[in-house]
Amino acid sequence: MKITKAVIPVAGLGTRFLPASKAIPKEMLTIVDRPTIQYIVEEVVASGIEEIILVTSEGKSAIENHFDYDFELETVLKAKGKDVLCEEISHISNLIDIVSVRQKKPLGLGHAIWTTRKVVGNQPFVVLLGDDLVLSDTPCTQQMIELYDDCQESIVAIQRVPLDQTSQYGIVEGERVREGVVRVERMFEKPKPGVTTSDLAIIGRYILQPEIFEILGGIQPGHGGEIQLTDALLTLAHRRPMYAYEFKGTRYDAGDKLGYLKAIIAFALRHPTLGKEFRKHIKEICVDL
Ligand code: G1P
Repeated sequence: MKITKAVIPVAGLGTRFLPASKAIPKEMLTIVDRPTIQYIVEEVVASGIEEIILVTSEGKSAIENHFDYDFELETVLKAKGKDVLCEEISHISNLIDIVSVRQKKPLGLGHAIWTTRKVVGNQPFVVLLGDDLVLSDTPCTQQMIELYDDCQESIVAIQRVPLDQTSQYGIVEGERVREGVVRVERMFEKPKPGVTTSDLAIIGRYILQPEIFEILGGIQPGHGGEIQLTDALLTLAHRRPMYAYEFKGTRYDAGDKLGYLKAIIAFALRHPTLGKEFRKHIKEICVDL
């Protein structure tokens, strides 16, 4: 079945990014010239998805506004002859259909996904976490859809992380079935040291079979007292095959202050109009470091 829907949870409080995220959703913090959420939406669009379901909470309306049609702004830009800018602004509102679902209680990522069950319906779907930005030649989601077309089963994106960082991620164990693809056998959400020797960390890209909703609906709170997606995934992996995919590209944790700085530099260096000058500047200041 073709994958047409993407779920993007944006209800989180953004505590890792305080005080910047006090009055602004962390998803609206800027990487070079656009908010982080726009990169995620652009990845979705470039991967051929037709509809986005945002899982929101109070205080996140700036995200919806960003992708909405702004009549006043476009009229002013047109009147001032700023046609290129007007085009760019209008392009954002025409990217893709977006619907919002409210997560009424902060009960965790698994619960956020579960709230979309009626809008997603009985079809496989993609999940993208807004903190994880991926720089790659082929969009990470598209790479996963290509694998899905082959296996027709759930897929989690993974990357290797240093062993002293595994407690920050969902970790996968399993059998390598081909280059870059592991069949999932066990999963741990933020395991304590010594629980697993695996360094395969889940990053925020998933393709899920709709069976996940029924599992999420019956699952008990896990790590941190929250409904964990990873726990539901493990149940799903025991029912039918699930694959972990080592995507090609570089992932930045833009929800973390240092990761965010690294993302800004990486995206700025590749920026079509600013990249060249910025590279020159970085080279100059690096000499003085
Ligand atoms: C979530 C997931 C975790 C995954 C991580 C990737 O955790 O629960 O399994 O490894 O995203 O970014 P969070 O970082 O939201 O606590």
